[in-house]
Amino acid sequence: MSDGLGSDFRRNFAAESASLLDIGLYGNAAAGPQPGPDRVKRAASGRQAGGASMDRIRIVGGQRLTGTIPISGAKNATLPLMIASLLTEDTLILENVPRLVDVIQLQRILGNHGVDVLIAGKRPGDDPNQGRTIHISAKHIVDTTAPYDLVSKMRASFWVVAPLVARMGEAKVSMPGGCAIGTRPVDFLIMALEKLGVEIEIEGGYVIARARKGLRGGEIVFPKVTVGGTHTALMAASLANGTTVIENAAREPEVGDVADCLNKMGAKISGAGTSRIVVEGVARLHGARHAVLPDRIETGTYAMAVAMTGGDVLLQNARPELLQSALDVLAQTGTSVTPTNEGIRIARNGLELAPVEVTTAPFPGFPTDLQAQLMALMSRADGTSHITETIFENRFMHVQELARLGARIQLDGETATIEGVNRLKGAPVMATDLRASVSLVIAALAAEGETMVNRVYHLDRGFERLEDKLARCGAAIERISA
Ligand code: UD1
Repeated sequence: MSDGLGSDFRRNFAAESASLLDIGLYGNAAAGPQPGPDRVKRAASGRQAGGASMDRIRIVGGQRLTGTIPISGAKNATLPLMIASLLTEDTLILENVPRLVDVIQLQRILGNHGVDVLIAGKRPGDDPNQGRTIHISAKHIVDTTAPYDLVSKMRASFWVVAPLVARMGEAKVSMPGGCAIGTRPVDFLIMALEKLGVEIEIEGGYVIARARKGLRGGEIVFPKVTVGGTHTALMAASLANGTTVIENAAREPEVGDVADCLNKMGAKISGAGTSRIVVEGVARLHGARHAVLPDRIETGTYAMAVAMTGGDVLLQNARPELLQSALDVLAQTGTSVTPTNEGIRIARNGLELAPVEVTTAPFPGFPTDLQAQLMALMSRADGTSHITETIFENRFMHVQELARLGARIQLDGETATIEGVNRLKGAPVMATDLRASVSLVIAALAAEGETMVNRVYHLDRGFERLEDKLARCGAAIERISA
């Protein structure tokens, strides 16, 4: 085989694939420390076949967090990196890939186009916290349609339209689904493709993209910063004939990571990480090996969990420059934030949390993906905070659920006013989207008594082994399988 994979790898792949598809997520879950008498026992059967989507998470609040939490590879970089594999016939090797439902879902979507995704299986002495290495080969694209039943489960899968039309001259991709956080249209993505000479038709809920004679470079000016639009433009422009300039490009670190990987594949991209990116198109891209950058949203989420409960935790592999604005906000709350050689150390010692005023914004501003978590934290602050959401309308579904735990939050248009309370009390709550569900976990970690978080499949989309990582630091948390 041209990809040079050994038979050992293939055997492991078969085993790993079977376990991933059966249980949704984990091939080799670590056995964490045994719970103490006052802790909840980890549910041994929590990850068994079939039940993942209806699992619940039970938390008894009040434990401080101490220890080390390893930070996984970024979901929001992994997804576009996997999609970029469609641009080449050669094998793309990605390291530090997180074990997430969204990754498996994208594997299915790519598989439908004819892509092989090989995941290395367990090896002796493996550290379960290490990300996985996956080999992706889009040697033969057999189908350029991405059907509704696959795309509707994950919005980012719509982005396959760009590499498919760039390499194959056509693509038919269902309009996306994903988290229920506002309307989330794709008009900017379509505009970007049109600027590169793609003809677009919309029919029966599908976007049909055609460029029989190939793509040509052009100027794309995004009216609003869009991460997905920037990924789409980068991938399409890499194989276009001529030079493309992308203005008002997203500066999110994941865009830089994808551009780095594309450059390793032979693309000629400069300016990624700034709002003006220039892409000189090339005729073909080749294989490469790339390690996914650490997840800044996972980092910020655990940092807020530690700020919430008090304690002292090293967020291993985290990189402060990926979330400086969020770390600045945490420092304002009175939480100690210390960059170290190994990651970021977060500590808080019984002091009151100071309230903050925060507005979400594109990078390097405060990320919308940490808004719900910050709101949970501020529900225990000593005073009144304001959080304004400017990226997505309707991204406040967590407010009602946080209120069930005793949070006092009032909404006025885009702004939430959070009046800090002395204590939260456990209750049954419902996860409504990825980031909202983890905000409920943060609140529950500090709430008196038991909280049951229902519908945790949202968490599994974006947080790798959340309950293991928190339990290892002393949280009383368990997954209960359906
Ligand atoms: C990505 C992230 C998501 C994050 C978001 C903003 C991934 C997989 N997802 O989502 O976690 O919350 O960036 O940082 O990386 N818009 C339009 N028309 C379009 C495209 C976007 O109006 O064609 C609007 C959106 O409704 C939103 C804003 O632009 O108001 C930003 O959206 P965008 O950056 O595109 O978000 P995603 O790429 O979907």
